[in-house]
Amino acid sequence: MEPLPRGPGPACPLTCLLLLSLPGVGAQRSPTFQLQQPQDKVSAKAGETITLTCTTAGTGPAGPLKWLKGWGNENETIYDQNSPPTPHLTRAEPESNTDFSIHIRDVHPKDAGTYYCVKFRKTRTMDEVFRRGNGTEVSILAEPTRPVVSGPRHRAGPGQSVSVTCMAGGFFPKDIGVKWLKDKAPISAQQPQVTPGQTTSSYNVSSTVTVTLQKDDVRSQLVCEVQHRTLEAPLRETYQLSKALRVSPGIQVVTDPRSPVELNKTVNFSCHVRGFYPREVAVTWLENGTEMKVENTPQVTETRQGLFELQSLVKVQAMEEKNGSVFTCRVVHDGQEPVSRMATLQITAPAQGELNGLSQGENGSLFIIYVVVGVICTVLALLVAAILYLIRAKQSKGKSSPSARLHEPEKSSEATTQESDPNNLTYADLNFERERKTIRRMVELSQQSEYACIQSSPPPAGDDNLTYADLDMVHLSKAPRRPAPAPEEASSEYASVQIPRK
Ligand SMILES: *[C@@H]1O[C@H](CO)[C@@H](O)[C@H](O)[C@H]1NC(C)=O
Ligand SMILES: *[C@@H]1O[C@H](CO)[C@@H](O)[C@H](O)[C@H]1NC(C)=O
Ligand SMILES: *[C@@H]1O[C@H](CO)[C@@H](O)[C@H](O)[C@H]1NC(C)=O
Ligand SMILES: *[C@@H]1O[C@H](CO)[C@@H](O)[C@H](O)[C@H]1NC(C)=O
Ligand SMILES: *[C@@H]1O[C@H](CO)[C@@H](O)[C@H](O)[C@H]1NC(C)=O
Repeated sequence: MEPLPRGPGPACPLTCLLLLSLPGVGAQRSPTFQLQQPQDKVSAKAGETITLTCTTAGTGPAGPLKWLKGWGNENETIYDQNSPPTPHLTRAEPESNTDFSIHIRDVHPKDAGTYYCVKFRKTRTMDEVFRRGNGTEVSILAEPTRPVVSGPRHRAGPGQSVSVTCMAGGFFPKDIGVKWLKDKAPISAQQPQVTPGQTTSSYNVSSTVTVTLQKDDVRSQLVCEVQHRTLEAPLRETYQLSKALRVSPGIQVVTDPRSPVELNKTVNFSCHVRGFYPREVAVTWLENGTEMKVENTPQVTETRQGLFELQSLVKVQAMEEKNGSVFTCRVVHDGQEPVSRMATLQITAPAQGELNGLSQGENGSLFIIYVVVGVICTVLALLVAAILYLIRAKQSKGKSSPSARLHEPEKSSEATTQESDPNNLTYADLNFERERKTIRRMVELSQQSEYACIQSSPPPAGDDNLTYADLDMVHLSKAPRRPAPAPEEASSEYASVQIPRK
């Protein structure tokens, strides 16, 4: 654009007139030259095309018109009238001498900045700035990157707090919102930190939330929600709280059958490891501190709450040399310190002497002995009752016998309804030979009297009878107190027995 050297023409009558009217000042200081850069701010999303407008009016001095990005030392010439167009940057009106607007295609965040439309004046040594526009601030709207949520480096247990951070970057403009949700319910977090990003026209954001863990957080999730003006819908990223949670197991060792056990029985030691998270767990068994071989690996199952549990089993033969052995279940969960629970194997001593055979796990035989003893004692109790009844019947005159009523519950409490057969005694005697020492004691005592025999009877039913009978005897021998007034002396003795038993 160098209109001045040309002579006056029909294209620019006003300029020419002015120039002619001001000889000497000439082209160097055309006061009518105007440069308009009307756009204050332009923003676009990355990839879009922007148009920067610049128009001139009037005739300026000799010198090029350029577009500069930035001012001062940071400036960069992005368009020069002399330079050829590029795919990135083209003139809007390539042929125009007054419209110097430019298109910038496929903008990137790096295109952000302030653009100046500048008219230079040629001097002898260099081009100097003649006029410039006010500048157009170009911002490239940039969407935030997909948020990245990171939890604590180490797991924590219920009741402890963990911090979870959400980060997104590369967005423009600076304003951004970050929200947190725990299981869809909003939770409060610290103010998000916005920092300059990788390029001058982008920002990074970081938001941290602190959560106190609970046992049932295995299924809980945190959601970080990033809202920005470039987004139609917020960006969401989920964090499973189970990644930060450790629930230590409850450990219990159960012995089946319960200790003490009989010799040569098989004992199951089971280690119940319950309610743990995460799944990683190692269970080992130690026998007196030495690791045992356990063939089957226990099955880990998941509970409804999302925790895990397992049961590890070892079978042990209750051999005499294992008496007092300590069996330890050692659990290492999630790389934590081992936790141990132990159980001691107690083996009952086999019965001594001639009764050895019976005591060797022959529960059936023992049971029979108990039944026999019980029957004998019942019979004896009945005998005592009968005697007492007879005595009373002699003494009573037309009174109903309270003794009969007294003894009835005792009969029913006995499991076996037994006829009062004196032969039973003989039968019992035969069995006594094979019985334990307690029974033997009974035999001795039973020889003394029926009453003594009752004392030694082991089963509870027999025991009841014993106490009862005993009380009867004592009360009979003493002068008993009378809780109920009774006219008859003999029957009153019976009433006194009745009361302490019920
Ligand atoms: C440029 O800025 C000046 C003041 O700084 C103002 O007077 C003028 O109107 C502005 N021009 C445009 C085109 O915005
Ligand atoms: C552009 O930068 C160069 C050197 O970096 C400097 O000499 C020149 O004056 C600057 N131009 C403007 C308009 O700031
Ligand atoms: C901004 O975030 C991006 C990832 O989003 C990351 O690569 C970059 O290092 C961050 N820059 C700063 C200054 O934090
Ligand atoms: C227990 O088993 C051993 C062999 O396993 C046997 O020698 C012993 O007699 C058994 N003891 C009893 C009381 O059954
Ligand atoms: C096992 O040991 C207990 C005490 O330590 C003892 O009472 C019991 O008799 C022992 N059993 C055997 C079978 O030796």
